[in-house]
Amino acid sequence: MQNIPGYISEHKHRFLEELIDLLKIPSISADKAYAKDVLHTADSVKNALEEAGCDVVEIHETAGYPIIYGEKIIDKNLPTVLVYGHYDVQPPDPLDLWNSPPFEPVIQKTELHPEGAIFARGACDDKGQMYMHVKALELMVNTDQLPCNVKFMIEGEEEVGSNNLAVYVAENKEKLANDIILISDTGMIANDVPSITTGLRGLSYVEVELTGPNRDLHSGLYGGAVANPINILTKMIAGLHDENNHITIPGFYDKVQELSKDEREQMAKAPFNLEAYKKALDIDAVYGEKDYTTNERNSIRPTLDVNGIWGGYIGEGAKTVIASKAFAKISMRLVPNQDWKEITELFKTYFETIAPVGVTVKVTPHHGGQGYVTPIDTIGYKAASKAYETTFGKKPIPQRSGGSIPIVSLFEQELGSKTILMGFGLDSDAIHSPNEHFGVWNYLKGIETIPYFYKYFTEMNT
Ligand code: BES
Ligand code: MN
Ligand code: MN
Repeated sequence: MQNIPGYISEHKHRFLEELIDLLKIPSISADKAYAKDVLHTADSVKNALEEAGCDVVEIHETAGYPIIYGEKIIDKNLPTVLVYGHYDVQPPDPLDLWNSPPFEPVIQKTELHPEGAIFARGACDDKGQMYMHVKALELMVNTDQLPCNVKFMIEGEEEVGSNNLAVYVAENKEKLANDIILISDTGMIANDVPSITTGLRGLSYVEVELTGPNRDLHSGLYGGAVANPINILTKMIAGLHDENNHITIPGFYDKVQELSKDEREQMAKAPFNLEAYKKALDIDAVYGEKDYTTNERNSIRPTLDVNGIWGGYIGEGAKTVIASKAFAKISMRLVPNQDWKEITELFKTYFETIAPVGVTVKVTPHHGGQGYVTPIDTIGYKAASKAYETTFGKKPIPQRSGGSIPIVSLFEQELGSKTILMGFGLDSDAIHSPNEHFGVWNYLKGIETIPYFYKYFTEMNT
């Protein structure tokens, strides 16, 4: 393709400025207080798609935040790429751990990003990665190199479960018809070790509430004589893993797809430095399910984790009290074939059964979704692989990720198309954490690589 690096170096300051402007808007979908900002971000995305060269751009209102649809159809006989991304972000808390305010983007050098990284909530997840696609379209249009049709679907509720997107997709199958779905909302191994994400885990997220006595009690007068919901909740949670760190919920592993010895050997070839991993997290040992490696534990194996736990007195000093209630939020990451609704039911039943007399249990499911695996013997994967090879000078490694984008399996179910996960972030980019960032090099590399995907995908299809 002609002049891609030239176009990028000529326009890179503007590419960065535009992204920085987008990152300044706090589009926190989880917090109603930011509703205006989320809507404002939707408008900005709409304008950006129009300016990049889409012929049609629509804001589709939903029961929640709007979905932006855009398209540029150049020839009905050519293949169509559907780009998905999200413009909403996670809440930035805890704020005091940020080195600079989360919605005042700054560019700073880091060890892994010697050319600088943009620090802001959403820099990597997913505004920065979504915007690479907008700028790649601009590049292809302005240099007369768009080889096929393109559709965009950018939502504002990914971080809260994509419920309204599911409705939109089911109701707009024809409009969204495509030959491949392209998403940049994952990561790669390292800047000199390109990889393509070939799997996502499913998710079941539940909240549990334990109630003991009908009011908080004096822990001296009543201590020892009634069930303490916090003691009991922690004991119940501890019992959800056995001594080998297997999950004890009956039936939990029944549908888990075990990888063959060969597949596990292939996986083990991906570069991984355990010492560097431990050092980056300041831990002296890794921890997890017996007989599996770290990379297996965080991708091909299901998990159960407490994400938050509370109850009783947590203020300053000491208060002698037995709380009436105790709570926890629990996530289960699932692997292909495990059905999230079934797992949620198994959890609920089991958790209710193990509660001793003296407390009552309430389990409330939040949201969830199925896992996903991208086959690598397809035109879509091959085109992506060749695109990375062209711009990175190295063949990318297929790698399954531990994260979840529940809507991906729904795309396959409703639209019948596969998804290619071309992520350009790094695990160390701190998504969902304080000091989230996205390498300037990664941002520009994404813009450079995406047009090659379009080119090779079109060539391989025709
Ligand atoms: N982009 C992430 C998912 C991701 C990140 C997958 C890195 C693979 C590698 C996405 O925005 C996300 O955070 N998903 C949530 C689930 C969602 C239902 C809230 C997750 O994985 O916790
Ligand atoms: Mn994301
Ligand atoms: Mn996210």
